[in-house]
Amino acid sequence: MSRILVTGGTGYIGSHTTVELMQQGYDVTIVDNLSNSSIDVLDGIAAIVGKKPEFANIDCGNFVDLDSVFTTYPDIVGVIHFAASKAVGESVEKPLLYYRNNLGSLVTLLEVMQQHHVQNIVFSSSCTVYGQPDKEHLPVDETAPIQQALSPYGNTKQINEEIIRDAAHADKSLHATILRYFNPIGAHPSALIGELPNGVPQNLLPFITQTAAGLRPELKVFGDDYNTPDGSCIRDYIYVVDLAKAHVKAVARMLESKDREQVEVFNLGTGRGLSVLELIRDFEKATGVKIPYTIVGRREGDIEQVWAAPKKANEILGWSADTPITEVLASAWKWEKHIRNIK
Ligand code: NAD
Ligand code: WQD
Repeated sequence: MSRILVTGGTGYIGSHTTVELMQQGYDVTIVDNLSNSSIDVLDGIAAIVGKKPEFANIDCGNFVDLDSVFTTYPDIVGVIHFAASKAVGESVEKPLLYYRNNLGSLVTLLEVMQQHHVQNIVFSSSCTVYGQPDKEHLPVDETAPIQQALSPYGNTKQINEEIIRDAAHADKSLHATILRYFNPIGAHPSALIGELPNGVPQNLLPFITQTAAGLRPELKVFGDDYNTPDGSCIRDYIYVVDLAKAHVKAVARMLESKDREQVEVFNLGTGRGLSVLELIRDFEKATGVKIPYTIVGRREGDIEQVWAAPKKANEILGWSADTPITEVLASAWKWEKHIRNIK
């Protein structure tokens, strides 16, 4: 069977994707520098699939180390590139770290791939590239205009996409699939892997589950005066396991399809927008746990509303994100209880 190199594979989305790849029979080698994940994730993956993936603790920006991984595993046929720094606020404070890590890793990876004649890459991009789409572009499809990035993090995703396009233009044997994720949430149903945020969570669902677990006294809802039905912001929350499955479809298409474009872009979302207040209510319904919250002012840089038109991924990848939201939220709570030893 074919081997896939998964960079950032001990991270949140990478670990769930590794599980789905291995369950579909792919061999997986993970490279991760453990800057935002734990080595124990490998045990979680092994407990689910019955086997540990191969693992190398290296930095993707290090050409020599990355090169040695491709030499060790000459059967690598494709790469999924998750490794990146991803905290929007931190990127404003430490832009150079973000440019070095997120741009340097991709450039190094593409150089090493070329050296080893590996011609397929799936790249983790983000709906952040669309900024706040105009009303006529909601839901957002892949043709919506890219807007000026609101943070250095968002800018690295835009530049990464351009790097991939330029590299593919110069090398017609390189094939790339750019996946623009909306808001990934939830954990594997086994609760053996999930999201491990560092410090105070910036993202909504980890803050909700930590509030439910008693780690935070209350959730602050950032604004109820937006131009939305209940005044809170709207997002497209996609289950991480559904998202992981889309990567398996993208890899299979890259390896098998003869009539694909050299660089393809897919929006990965459910196609349904949920407000912050709706998500809180759905969480309470799914888990029976009440979330204390107060409405506070808007968070700087927040987008009012964005959700995906996933038709292209539905039709071309044969994929859709259809796990019910209550199941998704229950998985997040089960994971939080698991890591906090709550019965
Ligand atoms: P994560 O932080 O959990 O995983 C990223 C992994 O990459 C971590 O394990 C980290 O240790 C590793 N890493 C970082 N820099 C590295 C380097 N130079 N060399 C080797 N390993 C390195 O993040 P995630 O949520 O799983 O995100 C995965 C990808 O998806 C990222 O590229 C992120 O920007 C993108 N993305 C995430 C979201 C989201 O909301 N989680 C949304 C859109 C896009
Ligand atoms: C969701 C909603 C908040 C926390 C971020 C990145 C983006 C992408 C996904 C990677 C918003 C509200 C949140 C809280 C709240 N990541 N909220 N109280 O803002 O869509 O995007 O993650 O590419 O680049 O910016 O996600 O989870 O931070 O917020 O009211 O304590 O929840 O205002 O409306 P967001 P989020």
